[in-house]
Amino acid sequence: MERIELLEDLRQRVAEWRAAGRRVALVPTMGNLHRGHLSLIEEACRRADRVVATIFVNPLQFGPSEDLDAYPRTLVEDQRRLMEAGCDLLFTPTSQVMYPNGQESQTRIEVPELSDILCGATRPGHFVGVATVVCKLFNMAQPDVALFGEKDFQQLLVIRRMVADLNMPIEIVGVPIARESDGLAMSSRNGYLTAEERALAPGLHRALLGVESVLAAGASISEVEAATAAAIGEAGLRPDYISIRAAADLAPAAETDEDLVVLAAAYLGRARLIDNLRIRRT
Ligand code: PAJ
Repeated sequence: MERIELLEDLRQRVAEWRAAGRRVALVPTMGNLHRGHLSLIEEACRRADRVVATIFVNPLQFGPSEDLDAYPRTLVEDQRRLMEAGCDLLFTPTSQVMYPNGQESQTRIEVPELSDILCGATRPGHFVGVATVVCKLFNMAQPDVALFGEKDFQQLLVIRRMVADLNMPIEIVGVPIARESDGLAMSSRNGYLTAEERALAPGLHRALLGVESVLAAGASISEVEAATAAAIGEAGLRPDYISIRAAADLAPAAETDEDLVVLAAAYLGRARLIDNLRIRRT
């Protein structure tokens, strides 16, 4: 597996593949790779002839008081794992390559409404940073298909919407959440947890697992949200939001909606954890 830092080199390699009729997949990441990231690479291998992964800890999507400096950087180990998973090329742009005119004067992509709710309400500007860097990565690599985890469900919808609104000829594929054996969704930020906090962390997923049966028993959406927030609090986490939404567009769930998703974010020690679960009502 080749590692490339310069845009010209990335373009040249992808152009060669395309000229040879190869289908190219892109998997954007911020590194510190775990099994969730690798499942995206594996799915990419099934859907394309060549797989490009990117590692870039994107400052534009971190708020001023967030963990940009602390974000784990593990390039050597990441490279080994990517190679083993079947990745063909790793693009690791520097900030200078990504934002040559400076981050502040960077043209931005804003997906309105979807970016302002849930995680966007707690993290103002976050999804503008995500959409902007993903748009740039799409233009840099020009993939046929790009893969994103359902773990970041709102992010996946923001990107789908950007691609639709801006007529980008790229197929967007969502990949199911990879979990630890106790149900905790895998995340680079799980590394911030102490042993004690790590033992409490699966309480977030457990609380979400209870939602479907309570809804089926006839409770209203708002009753279930309140009960789930209470369950997360009792599990020792501090809930940020718990919300049941329409899976297609994250509109507040109507009592008649069938394809729902319950999304939650909660603080635990230094970490802010997110998780979600699809719920189908008949
Ligand atoms: P990062 O958090 O590194 O995640 C990279 C990709 O891996 C995202 O699509 C994310 O949804 C997926 N992923 C993370 N944990 C997962 C899990 N447990 N199961 C399945 N997929 C998982 O998300 C980002 O980086 C950035 O915002 C990025 C899109 C790269 C833009 O900077």
